Amino acid sequence: MEPRTEQDRAKWTAGTAAIDAYVRDGMKLGLGSGTTSHWFVRALGKAVADGLDVVGVPTSTATRDLALEVGVPLTTLADVERLDLTIDGADEIDHNGAMIKGGGACLLWERIVADASDRMVAVVDDSKVVETLGAFPLPIEVIPFSWESTRRSIARLLAKHGYSDPELRLRTRDGETVVTDSGNYIIDAHLQAITDPLVLDAELNWIPGVVENGLFTGIADEFVIGFADGRHEIRDTSSAPSARPTTTLRKGRAPVA
Ligand code: 5RP
Repeated sequence: MEPRTEQDRAKWTAGTAAIDAYVRDGMKLGLGSGTTSHWFVRALGKAVADGLDVVGVPTSTATRDLALEVGVPLTTLADVERLDLTIDGADEIDHNGAMIKGGGACLLWERIVADASDRMVAVVDDSKVVETLGAFPLPIEVIPFSWESTRRSIARLLAKHGYSDPELRLRTRDGETVVTDSGNYIIDAHLQAITDPLVLDAELNWIPGVVENGLFTGIADEFVIGFADGRHEIRDTSSAPSARPTTTLRKGRAPVA
């Protein structure tokens, strides 16, 4: 399969450049979700066919299915304690490497796999890099029980932070509620501009019923930007602050007080 559009070509560039820059023999890898990650997984399958020795933990059932199709050997976090590296996409990324993720509804597994990794590298096409997060609606994964009440709590928290009456839309596809790989729902918060990603990343998860939110702050150590003309750039964000305590305080990055 070859990239067809300009944006696909940029995504392909980011995904393949990440293999050259970061993937080495013997690594245990987190395999991201979404189209950019899938270009990475396809290229990884080719590298494995050429003799690269790696094993992957997928961040969604879709990525698991693709990895099996292209011949990337898989394992689980039940069998391996730590991963060397996770490579995953983003819906938006700012200059600190803070991201909005979850456009593909895979944010929970993506966060768990990233957290079990010694290093996380985001792969994005150039359209994903923004000054301020929030034009892309923020996905919030909630359990189905009383999701309407959870949504009201989210609205109250957002109002406290100055987001007055944002649209909080239950995600549907073809008229059906989207159900995540963990059996949960997604509420997309249309915030337009998120000026305080560190605060929201931490506080949204305080709400009972919220399983995870799509703000990933202090998780990407680096990010690879792909361009349609085949160029790529790598940005180091390893010293950006993290919103909440994590089992992986990479390179001494401290949580905000
Ligand atoms: C899925 C994700 C994806 O990484 C994100 O949606 C980016 O997708 P794409 O590479 O298709 O633009 O977070 O939950």
